[in-house]
Amino acid sequence: MMENRKHDSSPIVKIENLHLHYYTRRGVYKALNGVNLEIRRGEVLGVAGESGCGKSTLGRAIMGIIPRNAAIVEGKIIVDGVDYLKPLREYFKRAKKFKPTKNQDLLKKVNEEMSKVRGQKISMVFQEPMTTLNPLLTVGYQISEALFYHNPGLLASRRLARARATKEDTKNIVKILKEEGEGERFRQYLKNRNIMGLEDQIISIWRRRELHDLKKEQMILDLCCEPISSMARGYLEQIEKTNLLPKFSKLPIVGRIVKREILKEAYKKSAEFLGLLGIPDPDKVVYMYPHELSGGQRQRIVITTAMINNPNLVILDEPTSALDVTIQAQILELVKELKEKINSTYMFISHDLSVLSEVSDRIAIMYAGQIVEIGPRSAIFNSPKHPYTQMLMEAIPTIEAHELKAIKGEVPDMRNPPKGCMFYPRCPYAMPICKEKRPQLFKVGEDHYVACYLYGGEKK
Ligand SMILES: Nc1ncnc2c1ncn2[C@@H]1O[C@H](COP(=O)(O)OP(=O)(O)O)[C@@H](O)[C@H]1O
Ligand code: SF4
Ligand SMILES: [Mg+2]
Repeated sequence: MMENRKHDSSPIVKIENLHLHYYTRRGVYKALNGVNLEIRRGEVLGVAGESGCGKSTLGRAIMGIIPRNAAIVEGKIIVDGVDYLKPLREYFKRAKKFKPTKNQDLLKKVNEEMSKVRGQKISMVFQEPMTTLNPLLTVGYQISEALFYHNPGLLASRRLARARATKEDTKNIVKILKEEGEGERFRQYLKNRNIMGLEDQIISIWRRRELHDLKKEQMILDLCCEPISSMARGYLEQIEKTNLLPKFSKLPIVGRIVKREILKEAYKKSAEFLGLLGIPDPDKVVYMYPHELSGGQRQRIVITTAMINNPNLVILDEPTSALDVTIQAQILELVKELKEKINSTYMFISHDLSVLSEVSDRIAIMYAGQIVEIGPRSAIFNSPKHPYTQMLMEAIPTIEAHELKAIKGEVPDMRNPPKGCMFYPRCPYAMPICKEKRPQLFKVGEDHYVACYLYGGEKK
């Protein structure tokens, strides 16, 4: 699970000149207007911008969640070399008049393609956390469900590993961990003994900071010699190999026993994961219902659910906005922990730059459906270049002034956006060229780009 992906430098997602328009009765809203963006493996990319600038639209488009009234006018999103939006883009080009119903038929195709990716490779925490959890199901079930369906092989291999491992094995493992940590020798030992299913279980204990070393050792020593019936073992071995749950239509009782083993293991992994993320009493929490938890805890559960299948990319859409300030801080801590403990790639969306300053490696600033500035966090904070970024920075509340200062002017009416630079109507530095032609991204520093004529192009 926790292999290091940081060595691969190809982007995990590449967005090229993406234009997305929403067709509504009140007109066509041009939500995305030529987004160019790369999400790099292993980074936390912060995306900031005022409400309505298209952040959620962008996040959802990367997930392949596109409403039927959204037209892909131009542009690509490439995930693992696949250009998902192609059918929608081609339809828009062909169509004389855009029809949401026709778009919907094609969305099914896109969804099919994306469902192979969604939940496993890319997952998303949505802006409205309270609507994401089902009030009628236990927390453990909701986290487990994704595992149960996508990763039964992993669950089988975890259960089998505890049956296969001997006392001698876990003793040796503790010894290796104490001598060399969770490095190559640890992994090689598990491989040689055919107990790789223990890897996550051991690491998630070993990395817990709040536990005393002796307690951790004992927990690892206990991961052995778990009895299993030979019937269950046979089926689990098959599931381990195929990563598929067999159809038990002719053997309903056997089916129930095997599924129960798998589901129990899913609960176990869920609790383990919650523990790893610093949630107290995880073994109890998995049997609770959402209403028994606080808002902050619920949000952690939502984030956990998004992470449980070890996705390559997690999109967090304003995961702290609905929460009060202290809980916001806890969720930010959680994201920092995640970043440290689970090697994944994160896209962290927020209207609040100060939130991003805590977690991001790079920051992209969005305005009216475009990326107007992008660069390393330090560059954005220490030397913001775009007039809009500078305004956003000034609006960050300080200790003296808690209220967010309003930014002057309004986001343009996206049914009829300015022809030139989108920021023209609000910009104190506007020049004639700004009104005529949309600026491209100009390089202003190491890995730092700005879409503004103050930094390149023809100044008139
Ligand atoms: N399903 C939709 N139908 C029509 N317009 C939408 C829809 N979703 C979003 N929009 C519009 O698209 C623009 C961008 O919205 P959104 O992506 O939610 O911005 P943000 O997340 O930055 O607040 C807004 O003007 C919003 O009203
Ligand atoms: S391109 Fe012109 S209008 Fe746009 S931000 Fe730069 S100076 Fe202002
Ligand atoms: Mg949003």
